[in-house]
Amino acid sequence: MQKELNDTVKKIKLLIETDKNLGIEEYFLSNKNKFNNSDSQAFKKRKRLDGLRKIVLSCKKCKLYRARTNLVFGEGNPDADLMFVGEAPGRDEDIQGRPFVGRAGKLLSRIINAMNLKRSDVYIANILKDRPPNNRNPEEEEIQACTGYLIEQIEIIEPKVICALGSFATKELLKKDEPISKLRGKFYNYKNIKLMPTYHPAYLLRNPHGKKLVWEDMKEIMKELSIKIRK
Ligand code: URA
Repeated sequence: MQKELNDTVKKIKLLIETDKNLGIEEYFLSNKNKFNNSDSQAFKKRKRLDGLRKIVLSCKKCKLYRARTNLVFGEGNPDADLMFVGEAPGRDEDIQGRPFVGRAGKLLSRIINAMNLKRSDVYIANILKDRPPNNRNPEEEEIQACTGYLIEQIEIIEPKVICALGSFATKELLKKDEPISKLRGKFYNYKNIKLMPTYHPAYLLRNPHGKKLVWEDMKEIMKELSIKIRK
């Protein structure tokens, strides 16, 4: 009994330490986060993600690693029901080594909070793990070099829903060429996971009228995940 307790305390300490490194400072008790089987599930998934992060850290498949300040691997709940996938880190993300922390990221955090969730409930990742210089669009060669890591992240996390933010993430995961304005608003099947494409938060900063449509998409996700919608 005492040994089990000590082991659990050790596990929790390790979890908190890893979370701190990922910038996660608060916890939210959802059904999935209770210290039960799903907690040990989260622990196993986190370990697998940590292993993958080490591999990505030494990746030289494309040139982007040369100019990075920090790798932006992804962060959040390793056992999340909902995963957001963006395009690539920008300047702020490169500096902090965390996804979506700049202006677009702050908007994404607000969207997540409006969904009755916290950032630490969901998992956030990008197609590219390193910043393209001057925030230029990802090149095809870079996407092809990096997508495999995202696919592994998805396989480890096993989310119920993926929200693809913007056309790069949508195109890459769905292999569809239609514009995001045509694709958004409904679920698609990605390896038996429901995938909702929506506008990228950076687009919303330039086109605030798109926020209403994004909120429609988020409400669909909330329904799918049985999250209560505030009136
Ligand atoms: N835009 C993205 O697509 N990802 C980030 O992490 C930040 C901005």
